[in-house]
Amino acid sequence: METKREVVMSKEINRRQFLSYGVKVAIGAFALTACGDLLALGQNRKKTLSGIVVGSDKFIVPLDELKQSQAISFKYKNTKSILLYNDGEIRAFENICTHKDGPNRLEGNILVCQWHGATFDPLTGEAIKGPAPKGSRLPPIDIELVDGKVYLA
Ligand code: FES
Repeated sequence: METKREVVMSKEINRRQFLSYGVKVAIGAFALTACGDLLALGQNRKKTLSGIVVGSDKFIVPLDELKQSQAISFKYKNTKSILLYNDGEIRAFENICTHKDGPNRLEGNILVCQWHGATFDPLTGEAIKGPAPKGSRLPPIDIELVDGKVYLA
């Protein structure tokens, strides 16, 4: 009887060890993925969950990558911003809603605030629908295209 109990405990320990290894493997895989993102961006850029952090060289993204995703969030000197590609046009705005500073996301052909649903024109940054004040607009950011790469101007 005593022997059987030891065997059961041994199996339980093995199961716990297995789960522990599983958690460690998952954490390791996540860390490698995160490092891969950092390495893949190169230059002075880093990638966080909320977008690209632009470095001192002001390089944001290759144009081809922007064309594919159509909207990329980035941050430069702590200003949350959004870069948009639409039918050959490239625009950038501070991504801070004029209502109460919420973040906007491109949904179809319109920028939509994720907090209370205000909408903005992705070409002009002008508020289309409240609760953002009528006539308000997202501050534009100057950008430039150099050798197929998008930079802050
Ligand atoms: S913060 Fe954007 S609609 Fe309220």
